Amino acid sequence: MSAFREMAFTPAEFARLAKIDRKLIDSLEEEGFLHTFRKKVGNVERKMISLPEVQSYFQHMRNLDLERLMADLESQATVSEPIPQENTIGFSHYSQGSQIQTHGTGATAAADPIPIEAVDKTMHPVVAAATAINRSAPSYKKQMFYNVKGGTGKSTLTAQYVMRAAMMGYKILAIDLDGQGHLTMNLDCLEGHDLPTIYDVLINDLPIEESIINVAPGLDLIPANLGICNIDIPLNQKPRREYRLSEAIDQVAHEYDLIVADTNPAASILNSSMLVAADLVNVVCATNPLSFHGMSLVMSTIEEMEREFRMELAVRIIPNMYDSREVISQEVLGELRSQFEGICTHSVVNRTVDLNEATKRRSTVWTVNSKGTGVNDINSLTEELIFI
Ligand SMILES: Nc1ncnc2c1ncn2[C@@H]1O[C@H](COP(=O)(O)OP(=O)(O)OP(=O)(O)O)[C@@H](O)[C@H]1O
Ligand SMILES: [Mg+2]
Repeated sequence: MSAFREMAFTPAEFARLAKIDRKLIDSLEEEGFLHTFRKKVGNVERKMISLPEVQSYFQHMRNLDLERLMADLESQATVSEPIPQENTIGFSHYSQGSQIQTHGTGATAAADPIPIEAVDKTMHPVVAAATAINRSAPSYKKQMFYNVKGGTGKSTLTAQYVMRAAMMGYKILAIDLDGQGHLTMNLDCLEGHDLPTIYDVLINDLPIEESIINVAPGLDLIPANLGICNIDIPLNQKPRREYRLSEAIDQVAHEYDLIVADTNPAASILNSSMLVAADLVNVVCATNPLSFHGMSLVMSTIEEMEREFRMELAVRIIPNMYDSREVISQEVLGELRSQFEGICTHSVVNRTVDLNEATKRRSTVWTVNSKGTGVNDINSLTEELIFI
C-alpha cells in the first residue's frame, strides 16, 4: 500500500501548502473548513491534518463562491457591524454547519515566517484562504512526461508531480507507459506488476476502467510491467493504432481533472500514441551536454507527429538535475533558455539528494524533507504545469 495514502501534514506544512498564515488555521477549523486530528509522536501529541482533509480543503476553497461570500460580508458590515478586523469572526453558513467557538488552543503562537502577499490581515479568514490559492482548473488536462533519452528524470518528476497535484485536491489518473514500471514503483504500487496494464487495454480490448487501480485518495494509476516492452509489434497490426490510446483515455477522461503519463525512453508506437492523446508534452531535459544534444531529436519527433496527425501540441521543457556549482550545468541551462525561449519552464529542478531519497523510499519528496530544495522545486514546477 502506498505510503502517500497515509500522509499527514503538520499545521506549518499545511500553511505552506495552502499559502496561508499559520494563524489562520484555527479560524478555518472553527469555520468547519478544516479538521485536524491528534497524533502521538514520541511523548508529544501533535495536531495533524490528513491527506484527504487537505484535499477537501482545496476542493472547497476552489469551489467557494467568493463573490457571494464577500457581498454577504459587506452587507453584514453595513447592517450591523464593521468588516471584521480580526480573523475570528464566524461565518458558519459557508462552512458545513459547524458552530463558532472562541479561540483557545493557543496553537498559533509561532507563525511560520512565510511572507504571503495574498493574505491581507484585515480579510475574513475564509476570504484570505480562498484568495491565496489558484482557483482555476488545470490548463491542460492530458499531459505526458517525455524524452527519447533515458535517465533524464521523467519517472521521478511524473511521480512527484502527480502526488503534489493530488495534494491540491485534483482527481488524477497517472498512466505508466514504460515496461520498466518506474512510475508504478515510484508510487509504491509493487503489486501493480501482476495487474492489467495498458497492453491489455490496447491489445486485448480490456475496458480501460478495469486497468485502473487506486493509489491514494484522488490518485489512480494504470500500472506497467515488463509485458509492455512487447507492445509495439501487436499494436502495429491494429487498425488506427496511434488513436487507440487516445480513444481509451477519452472513455474515462470526464472522471479526472488531470491525466498524466510517464513514457518510455524510445521513439516507440506507444509514445507516439500518447503524443496523439496529450495536450501538453513535458520534455524533461537533464542539464548535461548529452541530454541537451538529444533535444533536437526530441523536438523534431514532436514536430513530425504534429505534421502527420495534423495537430498542435503545447510543449514545455523542464531543466532537471541542475547543479548551480557546475559551470556545465549553468551553460546548458543558459542554452536551453535561449534556444527554447518561451517554452522552457521558469521552474528548474535542482539535483538534490531529497529527490533521490524519495525515489528510494517510493514516496513524495514532502515526506523526505518538507522544507528542502526538492519540495520547493516540485511545488513551483507543479503550479507552473497546472496553471500554464
Ligand atoms: N532532480 C534530481 N535530483 C536527484 N536525483 C534525481 C533527480 N531527478 C532524477 N533523479 C534520479 O535519477 C535517476 C533516474 O531518474 P528517472 O528514473 O526518473 O529517469 P527516467 O528519465 O524516467 O529514466 P528512463 O528513461 O530509464 O525511464 C533516479 O535514480 C532518480 O532518483
Ligand atoms: Mg522512467
